[in-house]
Amino acid sequence: MIDRFDEPIYVTRPVLPPLAAFQARLAEVWSTRWLTNAGEQHEQLGRAIRNYLEVPEVSLFNNGTIALLAAVRALGMRGEVITTPFTFPATPHAISWSGATPVFCDIDPVRLTLDPSLVERLITPKTTGILAVHVYGVPCDVRALQAIADRHGLKLVYDAAHAFGTRIDGVGIGNFGDASMFSFHATKLFHTAEGGALTCGTSENREKFDHLKNFGILNQEEVGEVGINGKMNELQAALGLAVLDCVPEELIRRRAVIARYRDGLRGVAGLTIVAEPPGVESSCQYFVVRIDRHAFGCSRDVVFERLKQYNVFARKYFYPLCSDYECYRTLPSSAPGRLPVATEAADQVLCLPLYGALPLTAVDSIANMVREIQEQA
Ligand SMILES: Cc1ncc(COP(=O)(O)O)c(C=O)c1O
Repeated sequence: MIDRFDEPIYVTRPVLPPLAAFQARLAEVWSTRWLTNAGEQHEQLGRAIRNYLEVPEVSLFNNGTIALLAAVRALGMRGEVITTPFTFPATPHAISWSGATPVFCDIDPVRLTLDPSLVERLITPKTTGILAVHVYGVPCDVRALQAIADRHGLKLVYDAAHAFGTRIDGVGIGNFGDASMFSFHATKLFHTAEGGALTCGTSENREKFDHLKNFGILNQEEVGEVGINGKMNELQAALGLAVLDCVPEELIRRRAVIARYRDGLRGVAGLTIVAEPPGVESSCQYFVVRIDRHAFGCSRDVVFERLKQYNVFARKYFYPLCSDYECYRTLPSSAPGRLPVATEAADQVLCLPLYGALPLTAVDSIANMVREIQEQA
């Protein structure tokens, strides 16, 4: 019997920079008395994120959800927007808050991202765009989705909340589609406590996002559109600059944790690790396994509950599907029979703890706990 952990092990733990590094940034803010509205910290962070993600344009936001909402609105995605049910609520909510209707499309069984072969049959005269999600940082089939968007004159926006630093054949993930949203929530590898960004290829779109996040204000006398307050403030940006310095070290540690899990879980029947396709650099945001109840011997839910007894708090992420939420379940596209792959994935996925400070010996223990749960099943 493996001993339970003395302290709870949660699925993630935020990166905190040395307090002195944050305080030095705060001293700069204090010296300027500039607290929000594109101050010096905000401008510095914008440049740093642009360089890190290797994208032409970045617009910073107060959180990822408002950023997504701004992208959907700014790009004129009305009517129907095709999206995935296997995501966080913010994805379909951004569509709904913009007055459009989410149309749920099933996912690819391996990547767990929108299945391009199913998207086209959902396109109607009302469809204006596709909102796809790089789930766990695993990229969508960006080429296939772009081809569909081009063929039908649709906008293509990516929810890249999990994909900070993901690259496809060396190209930063923020370079695909009309825009990509990154979340800088505290649970993310890079964070500003709360925050987010949109990346895009043209200054024209970036200016649209900048206007929308600032109430639609064009100048001191003109408000051009119904905007919102989506601005990132100086304290968030200052924290972000300090956290960004910690990301390379955090990535090294997370890669070691992932490698250790892979070793520890090798050969466990009925357990598969969700992984990026070849040529993709991982964002190391989550470590996710799938439990096939028949081959493993018990269900994902049993593993989830049993891990709690060892003081390990994994996460059923994403369960339930967005199409099962009360606010969406009556949509025609929500019928479970239309979403068999997503339904199965939602029943099988389990995020195991992943963060740089997780000791490798703890990773070994968690892998052994999973094995022990299987033996006792
Ligand atoms: C896939 C996905 N989209 C959107 C969001 C929303 O981002 P935020 O919390 O920054 O508003 C999240 C948040 O974690 C997410 O996981």
